[in-house]
Amino acid sequence: MAKYLTLDDVKVKDKVVLVRVDFNSEVDNQTKKVTSDVRIRAHAESTITELAEEGAKVVVLAHQGRKGDPDFIPLKQHTEILGKILKCPVQFVDDVYGEKAKKTIKNLKSGEILVLDNVRSFDGETKKGTPEEHAKTELVQNLAPLADLFVNDAFAAAHRAHVSIIGFTAKLPSAAGRIMERELKSLSKALDKPEKPCLFVMGGAKADDSLEISKYVLSNNIANMVLTGGVTSQVFLAAKGYKLGEKNIAFLEKKGLTGLIQGIKELMLKYPKGIVTPEDLVLDVNGKRKEISLAELPADYSIFDVGTKTIESYRKLVKEAKSIVLSGPMGVYENPEFAVGTKGIFEAIANSEAFSLAGGGHTISALKQFGLSSRISYISTAGGALIEFLMGKNLPGVVALENAVKKKIT
Ligand code: 3PG
Repeated sequence: MAKYLTLDDVKVKDKVVLVRVDFNSEVDNQTKKVTSDVRIRAHAESTITELAEEGAKVVVLAHQGRKGDPDFIPLKQHTEILGKILKCPVQFVDDVYGEKAKKTIKNLKSGEILVLDNVRSFDGETKKGTPEEHAKTELVQNLAPLADLFVNDAFAAAHRAHVSIIGFTAKLPSAAGRIMERELKSLSKALDKPEKPCLFVMGGAKADDSLEISKYVLSNNIANMVLTGGVTSQVFLAAKGYKLGEKNIAFLEKKGLTGLIQGIKELMLKYPKGIVTPEDLVLDVNGKRKEISLAELPADYSIFDVGTKTIESYRKLVKEAKSIVLSGPMGVYENPEFAVGTKGIFEAIANSEAFSLAGGGHTISALKQFGLSSRISYISTAGGALIEFLMGKNLPGVVALENAVKKKIT
């Protein structure tokens, strides 16, 4: 039996289908305008279109930001963007599970789409709990009786054991939406016996996540090598004993990353050939790039990129790889002066024949900036959920869908 049901397993015509999507998007903190439609478009063009075309009464449930944060805004704008993408009217109600929301749901006709307001305006939403505990909350108690089916399409939020992610699976027949399905299939391709050689290219500033992912993929024989870049590689170089210079060490300390050094040392002892660090670096000398070899460390200036030798050797490894997972830029790619390493290595990945998977906000922006997005085999819509998946963790949203099948709720 399938691990979880998909839209292929359920009939939705004339049914009220509650779809949890992840519309959480970048928002301009000043104007409060949604500045990216990537996630809205992904759900719109797959799951939402399919459900509406099949004649379901589609009720969309989503979050935006977190209470107290500047990007915590209602979903009215998201609804307008959704309507523009679908080129059809989409209803919005400024209520989540109150009388207004319930009345609008009851009046929906087959093929119509309704977006409920930001589900995080319900205080209990972000409390952790089991599906059974969450099924007792006001959100589930009010909405579940009006729905015939729950569809979880929010892979990007599946690492949260929140009410709207798992609570409905204890009450309603539940299936994965097309984005959830696509993400799980593509990500499993990268983690489940990937074609070898398999490279993980880990840049960016989240060295703690990179360390956890490296541990998992090296010890489980998923990746042959982890190539490091960005701030991550600085912590790895420090663990190798390189003196980066006061300014760079102070930066790593400020970010709380020097505490990782011992763990990295242990990992490198266990997998001496598994972790690859840059051979040369680029410093920001008054806004201009200056390449240095590792022998020239410590540096008085900030490290902002990897150097030419590193680009060349990473490109060679990329060329030989059959599967590549890419997460995080190699340097300060937003500034053309320091974008060379990221561009050079990302280009090699885009040009390679290997199955390539990329994810994370900065990685996606950099790929877009260099016009490489269409040449990556799969770009995930997720950030945190992708990281947890790559660490080998079970995602509560996925587990809940699997358990819903086991319990034969359907
Ligand atoms: C994300 O953008 O990673 C998801 O929407 C989850 O958002 P959260 O980190 O606020 O829970």
